[in-house]
Amino acid sequence: MSARRPPTRVPPVAFVPSGPGLGENLPSRAILDETMKMTLAQFSINAKANAYCPYSSFPVGAAVLARNGGIFMGCNVENASYGATCCAERTAIFKAASEGVRHVVAVAINSDATDFTAPCGLCRQVLREFTGRKSTLDDPDDESEEAQDMLVILVRSEGVRRGKDDSGLEMREFWLKKDLLPYSFGPEDLGN
Ligand code: THU
Repeated sequence: MSARRPPTRVPPVAFVPSGPGLGENLPSRAILDETMKMTLAQFSINAKANAYCPYSSFPVGAAVLARNGGIFMGCNVENASYGATCCAERTAIFKAASEGVRHVVAVAINSDATDFTAPCGLCRQVLREFTGRKSTLDDPDDESEEAQDMLVILVRSEGVRRGKDDSGLEMREFWLKKDLLPYSFGPEDLGN
């Protein structure tokens, strides 16, 4: 038997296709309730199973939650030319964007490290592009910081790492713009 057991699998949640005209937006409060956060955390753990990381042996999984309820998973994909590596967060967000998503409300990130794994600087900037802004908000007059930010959920999975269950799953939450990338540069700064 291999030393590393596969992560706990969870049944997929209903997937709402993204893109203009497809998928109803979820009620803004429901989209980030505790169940949804836990679901996203589980998806980030599952995403890690496909990590291609022969050089670092550091598997990472990410899952982004689009405003319309769609969930997109991503893992790190390394390259023999090391600099060509793509982090899990960028894999997930590029998958979402390429399916038409323009507004991501939350991202969950998980690795096998003992401590929480936070997104690198490059990924913070890429995630920042898809935070809510006037053109993507349900209510363009919603000036609240939260509507225009993205929840970053760091997931530590003690139980999964030890090949047990997901009982040791811990989450730590940050706001992307407010906490992790203050005074950032974004689409609005170009006048878009
Ligand atoms: N990595 C991610 O995928 N996300 C992070 O937040 C941190 C780092 C990946 C990149 C590389 O494949 C490996 O972890 C070691 O840096």
